[in-house]
Amino acid sequence: MTAKTYMVGNWKMNQTQAEIESFFSGLSLSNNQNNFWIAPQCLHISKCMDLGAKAGVLIGAQNCSEHEYGAFTGENSVDSLSEMGVHFTLVGHSERRTLFGETDETINKKVLKASQTGILPILCIGETLKEREAGKTLDIVLGQLKAGLKDLKIQNESEVIIAYEPVWAIGTGKTASPEQAGEVHNAIREVLSELYGDFGQDISILYGGSVKPNNVEDLLAQPNINGGLVGGASLKAESFNALCSAC
Ligand code: 13P
Repeated sequence: MTAKTYMVGNWKMNQTQAEIESFFSGLSLSNNQNNFWIAPQCLHISKCMDLGAKAGVLIGAQNCSEHEYGAFTGENSVDSLSEMGVHFTLVGHSERRTLFGETDETINKKVLKASQTGILPILCIGETLKEREAGKTLDIVLGQLKAGLKDLKIQNESEVIIAYEPVWAIGTGKTASPEQAGEVHNAIREVLSELYGDFGQDISILYGGSVKPNNVEDLLAQPNINGGLVGGASLKAESFNALCSAC
């Protein structure tokens, strides 16, 4: 199994222009093989593309529209994102699901649209605390996985990435234990293998939810955790450097 390891920063609705400059000037990424990525606010993509190119950091979006173009005020089309040169887009982040009412069906349309446009979708899935406590974790997570990937055909393992983010661990400082996360990642791997055969063995599965420099190594030690999708700890160069050096 040779799934590549990625460290992806999801900046959410954070960072001023000055903070972005300071972030990129503070980066020192050893062992960089184009696997350290940042998703800034859309408004900042262009600036980050310039600064990221010098640092070898690939830039992506946090979301995209499922529609091609038209009267969708406030949305960003995959064609426009592609013109900007973005490498990837997050799709179905739990904040999009809960705060903006995105359904599995919409998320699946976004995955397909991004993929058809040559933008790599990072499909985000994860259960709430209530669902975990009710023993429904795998049902929910694998259900979201299958629904999000419906009709997605891939030619190789690097055309899609999965991010498992338990909702109760996001921004709470409560990380899933490596064993808790590892168990879900193993189940995701099985479904990916059913869906995509050999490619499924090598699709990267990221973990997200309070990943920090002090817990990243234990998480990455799990066989099917192939990197992190990181919010808070990706905002400052110092901690992003530390996260990347664990890859
Ligand atoms: P935190 O790392 O701040 O918990 O956020 C995780 C996340 O939502 C990344 O997409």
